[in-house]
Amino acid sequence: MILRRWMAAGLVAVATAGVLNAVPATAQRPYDPTAQSLRALGQRHGLYVGTAVDMAALNDAAEPRYREIVRDEFSTVTAENVMKWESLEPTRGTYDWSAADELVATARRNGQKVRGHVLVWHSQLPKWLTDGVADGSIDNTELRSILRQHITTVASRYRGKIWQWDVVNEAVSDPWDTPSTLHYKGFWAEHLGPGYVADAFRWARAADPTALLFYNDYNIEAFGSGDPANDKTQFVYDMVKGLLARGVPIDGVGSQGHLGTQYGNYDTLQVADALHRFAGLGLSTAFTEVDVRSRLTDGVQAGDSEEINPRLQASAANFHVLLQACLAEPRCLSFTVWGFTDRHSWVPGTFDDPPQGLATIYDENYQPKRAYQVMKADLIYAGPPYVRMRATPKPRR
Ligand code: G3I
Repeated sequence: MILRRWMAAGLVAVATAGVLNAVPATAQRPYDPTAQSLRALGQRHGLYVGTAVDMAALNDAAEPRYREIVRDEFSTVTAENVMKWESLEPTRGTYDWSAADELVATARRNGQKVRGHVLVWHSQLPKWLTDGVADGSIDNTELRSILRQHITTVASRYRGKIWQWDVVNEAVSDPWDTPSTLHYKGFWAEHLGPGYVADAFRWARAADPTALLFYNDYNIEAFGSGDPANDKTQFVYDMVKGLLARGVPIDGVGSQGHLGTQYGNYDTLQVADALHRFAGLGLSTAFTEVDVRSRLTDGVQAGDSEEINPRLQASAANFHVLLQACLAEPRCLSFTVWGFTDRHSWVPGTFDDPPQGLATIYDENYQPKRAYQVMKADLIYAGPPYVRMRATPKPRR
């Protein structure tokens, strides 16, 4: 009996060897980096490559490619909408965790990290909250305790499951806002004053000791807008420096990276300089919402390649600038695109007069665009001494 089993095993071994030997040498191809995913290539540098996830698209039976690309190409995911306050607590006191839980579970199955987005933002707040403040039934003292409760509830539920939390989002105005000098803007600053920023980080840290806590904003890709008084990046730099000096537990600054090919934008050295300066404060950084939109002129919409090609190339060039700068700074931990396909991008729905689009790295039919190839090349053709492994931070207490 034992002998027979041994012989059977031997036969299998011989048969297997035969099959292996039968593979022609030409079929054993050398390692081809261009065939690797973005997530695999990012791993060479310890860099996480991510996307925002639209849960409706992820759950759409007719969209298998959406799910496959999320799973295969990315090592970190962000909820595009379902972790925002209006989604989590549409009715006061009643939380609906279903979609956010599902994203976290999907990420776990896919071996992905999760960027939590977002604990405090002036947009996408529930109506009961904004109405209550507007009609005076919620005063500022109660508002502060509601905010504390919200941060505590959400950060506690996902304790240990979130890699980076966007604790405070877009708290700073733009130079074209009123007043034209930079200031703290929006619902929270109006009602609670700028001190809510430090409070939010402290409350988030108390609820989750392991997540990296980020301040997240747009138009902070580089310093030097000309007038130092109107330099948003400088304002954010001074703000986070001040928070650190006061012992506030902030770990990083997220630079969203929403760019447009119609603007001047930046070169790699300007962006790398900004990341280095934030790193100099002892902070991590991340690109958190990258996309590069273009005007959809009549020519573009009519399929005129003379109008489309320059836009695709300019878009790719901007993805390249941000990714190359991130690679150059070891404290730049992740590079997340805000949706990966033009089929499900927030851009056309938001910028419709004049129409804009073409902002992502895959087209509407899930074909990789020039921007995708450029990102791959950036990840492949980079290494020491100027591109090093990421520096793993410890959450600040
Ligand atoms: O869920 C409703 C749905 O029930 C309704 O039928 C539909 C009709 O318009 O609207 C749906 O809500 C939309 C929601 O996205 C979910 O799709 C809102 O109208 C729409 O305004 C909302 O837009 C989101 C936007 O934030 C809101 O400001 C975008 O998808 C999302 O990409 C965008 O993300 C922000 C980041 O959180 C912060 N940084 C900027 C970035 C781009 O604006």
